[in-house]
Amino acid sequence: MKTYLVTGGAGFIGSNFVHYMLRKHKDIHIINVDKLTYAGNLENLKDIEKNPNYTFVKADICDKEAVEALFQKYDVDYVVNFAAESHVDRSIREPELFAKTNVLGTVTLLNAAKNAWETENGFKEGKKYLQVSTDEVYGSLGKEGYFMETTPLDPHSPYSSSKASADLMVKAYYDTYKMPLNITRCSNNYGPYQFPEKLIPLIINNCVNKKPLPIYGDGMNIRDWLYVDDHCKAIDMVLEKGTIGQVYNVGGHNERNNIYIVKTIISFIHDNIDATVDETLIKYVEDRKGHDRRYGIDPQKIKTDLGWYPETTFEMGIIKTIKWYLQNKEWMERLTSGEYENYYKNYYKM
Ligand code: NAD
Ligand code: DAU
Repeated sequence: MKTYLVTGGAGFIGSNFVHYMLRKHKDIHIINVDKLTYAGNLENLKDIEKNPNYTFVKADICDKEAVEALFQKYDVDYVVNFAAESHVDRSIREPELFAKTNVLGTVTLLNAAKNAWETENGFKEGKKYLQVSTDEVYGSLGKEGYFMETTPLDPHSPYSSSKASADLMVKAYYDTYKMPLNITRCSNNYGPYQFPEKLIPLIINNCVNKKPLPIYGDGMNIRDWLYVDDHCKAIDMVLEKGTIGQVYNVGGHNERNNIYIVKTIISFIHDNIDATVDETLIKYVEDRKGHDRRYGIDPQKIKTDLGWYPETTFEMGIIKTIKWYLQNKEWMERLTSGEYENYYKNYYKM
């Protein structure tokens, strides 16, 4: 039985990953370590909280003692580091927090794993650290071309710069100590359990509440969208089959501009749920500072080397996602009203 230490497992991708892995593998133990920031939500994991193959630990990845204690208590095989401050707009307002969590937290985790796994002759067999990184570390593309693993890092926001800095620390642990590790760099994810501050759930939530739909700048910035389960599948495959020390880009060639995304959501809700929701809700607002124009991943390496391919088309995934949020309006309501903070204090008696 393999033991996975998953950090940030109460967040968007982390909680989808925990679900994905428990569905797919019967013989694993997942330890979910999460600080439960505003973005961490144990409600996302309520259906599996009593699963004997799952353990939740509330801890901060920057807390050296707490992290080392985890490696003493459990014989961890895989570390999957999702824990991060993840929202670009917040990073523009609060860069120090991003440096702390995303860089210092990563180094704290790397070091604890190294101390637990290193032997006189290298590292124990079967161990691996996986850093969940992002395509944003490559910066912004013009009209042509794609991000490849060899594309130089050129991050712009405090968020992407902190993720690139973390990637360089991860690289250093391979180059210096030959620690068994991989980095994945995925494009924009969408799907259930994403905090409604990010474009897709924010627009759905605002449509539901008939609030203005804020579009930054001219709405023509392009993101490369991937359904979250396809990202989870890629991480699972990189853990199992990825060549030690390698970086893998993850993406499904689903480039769409922001205005297209917003109009797709409006049109589905207009046609199926509420005909009063229409494009008059769109409100062009001031552009994000340093707003990257276009992201586009070249996923050839993970496809050729590991046999990964995305299973959910954008057209299927976006409808599935809109329906999920519409069926979980109270979840969105709790998160956006701040009510969840009290909810968890009572729920977990913390
Ligand atoms: P999220 O903000 O939804 O979740 C982050 C989780 O980390 C939360 O549960 C939060 O409580 C936890 N956390 C934050 N600080 C912590 C700390 N100090 N110690 C322990 N836990 C802490 O983020 P997400 O969108 O799920 O992203 C997860 C990871 O994937 C991030 O590393 C992000 O950079 C990366 N990523 C995200 C996307 C995307 O489109 N969302 C794409 C590529 C990569
Ligand atoms: O590319 C991967 C990255 O995708 C991840 O590393 C980040 O953690 C994740 O947050 C995401 O970053 P983006 O900045 O691309 O996502 P966001 O949803 O914040 O914005 C998507 C696009 O929509 C971007 O061009 C900004 C625009 N936008 C966003 C919001 C919240 C708007 O026009 N209006 C909005 O209100």
